[in-house]
Amino acid sequence: MCGIVGYVGPRDAVPVLLEGLGRLEYRGYDSAGLAVVHKPSKGPAELRVRKTPGRVDDLAADLPARFRGSPGIGHTRWATHGEPTAANAHPHTDASGRIAVVHNGIIENADALRAQLTADGVVFASETDTETVAHLVAAAFADGAKDLEEAVRRALHRVVGAYGIAVLDAEHPDRVVVARNGSPVLLGVGDREMFVASDVAAIAGFTRQVVYLDDGELATLTAGGYRTFTLDDRATAKTPSTVDWDVAGAERGDHDHFLAKEIAEQPRAIERTLSGRLEERFSTAHLGGLNMDVREARAFRRVTILGCGSAWFAGELGAQLIEDLARMPAHAEPASEFRYRNPVVEPDTLYVAVSQSGETVDTLAAVQELQRKGARVIGIVNVVGSTIARQVDGGIYLHAGPEMSVASTKSFTSTVVAFALLALHLGRMRDLSPSDGGRIVAGLAALPGQIEQILDDEKRTGVIAAAAAELAPSESVLYIGRRHGWAVAKEGAQKLKEISYCHAEAYAAAELKHGPLALVGPELPTVAVVPDDDLAEKNTSTLAEIRARRGPVVAVGHREIPGAGRTLVVPRSEPELDPVLLSIPLQLLAYHAAVALDRDVDRPRNLAKSVTVE
Ligand code: AGP
Repeated sequence: MCGIVGYVGPRDAVPVLLEGLGRLEYRGYDSAGLAVVHKPSKGPAELRVRKTPGRVDDLAADLPARFRGSPGIGHTRWATHGEPTAANAHPHTDASGRIAVVHNGIIENADALRAQLTADGVVFASETDTETVAHLVAAAFADGAKDLEEAVRRALHRVVGAYGIAVLDAEHPDRVVVARNGSPVLLGVGDREMFVASDVAAIAGFTRQVVYLDDGELATLTAGGYRTFTLDDRATAKTPSTVDWDVAGAERGDHDHFLAKEIAEQPRAIERTLSGRLEERFSTAHLGGLNMDVREARAFRRVTILGCGSAWFAGELGAQLIEDLARMPAHAEPASEFRYRNPVVEPDTLYVAVSQSGETVDTLAAVQELQRKGARVIGIVNVVGSTIARQVDGGIYLHAGPEMSVASTKSFTSTVVAFALLALHLGRMRDLSPSDGGRIVAGLAALPGQIEQILDDEKRTGVIAAAAAELAPSESVLYIGRRHGWAVAKEGAQKLKEISYCHAEAYAAAELKHGPLALVGPELPTVAVVPDDDLAEKNTSTLAEIRARRGPVVAVGHREIPGAGRTLVVPRSEPELDPVLLSIPLQLLAYHAAVALDRDVDRPRNLAKSVTVE
């Protein structure tokens, strides 16, 4: 979704902002813009603003040759209030063109503020909620605010909603003032220069020393450093931490798409998720980040898992792993629903929040609701230092590396692996036998090599790409599976629809006869997840029912499936871990279908990498 980058220092801000904006592109956006303070040799400093409804490259191409200045702020916008036009792109300015603002989040009382400001004679240039902030800052100066910090504080006292903002003022040309409330803002500390961003990706190429602002905090950035304070102007103390961000991991390299690269990276990503956590000697997992001793962990009787989209589906697989290995009742549900249903929160339930980005607003809100009610919440998160990672009481970092494509792939499989570690850990302190624990430890250790084998086989045979070429023209595809296979099917359908725009729906195989079988025929292909397990016969019968109605079938399983037009074969793992391997061909199927349809694979329309607004 929207992204912010800013710079204060001796360099020309424009190249810094353009590089930062380029690194924010993966989040999904529809327009971009930047503003710098230009200081002519004679006369007062002035703001220069440029915006475009297109890509960052379009913005760069559109900049006049002498467009230079510092400090500066830039933004990628994902439209909420108003269409993606140049007028609605950020930065937004006040009427005099002195103040410029970039903003992530939503100003909830924007309509009321707009009405008040209009009554005061302000003429709006855009349909956005953000523009109100620029006018409020200008109004605060008109009411006597003595400096930019005070003007921003006064403006924000009138704002209700979520924001990460950065504000430039041509009359305070040595600084940027930033603020955070519900939308991430981090400061980057350089050598006599400062950066600001909503996402570490934007500034990691310049500095690794970062300061994360907390909700309700503001900061003034000058070339010499930063000062943090609250809305009531109380100083706060913040110490920079070093971020471990893999810049190369955030580059596409030789791959055509980030998605292809991230699918290929899964063996290494899973190795990192497992690294230092498998304890072969005791057939268990070591998870120091949970911050939980054995007595505390044994006191939990149930597990509730919360996440959105693919994180939720990974959570469904996690719930089954916990039930299988730890024999604790466990279930997963969408965080977006959980937060609004006034959930009954029980002290003996362990809550697990799952999020690749660590910024998904619904998941964060669910965590906060739980913590208000005294629950213990752990996180399974990829992005180190992200909001959810800092909010939870402990957890497991995936260490899957930067995931730049909007569609989750390596974070999905790494999350399932993290759940297997958690289930093993909880299971071995309950009734999971050492031999079963050892079986899972060995199964986990074998996964990277087995994924490698699936990827190598596909390079050699091209079977999945061929199946994708056949599926791609379909208007709709049905995905089915039983037990673990159903959650695998849900994630498979999600992948196909989000990157190929082909409608896909996942059903529990046994539910077909209760409705969707009416749709089955030559025009509706089915992708069936059919591992060679105790339910294989049941799955074969379901496939026979589909074939009897001349429905084309692509199966994913451990051996050629009779009746399937094609079978995408994967190696056997332990039955509890099979979902990791069964998911890989479905990722490739979606990828190749999207390529065949010439879709924008890494930046599918209407979607964003981290969903920071409701
Ligand atoms: C998955 O391919 C999607 N991009 C989406 O469903 C994603 O999993 C969801 O938005 C949650 O994101 P998070 O893991 O960053 O919280």
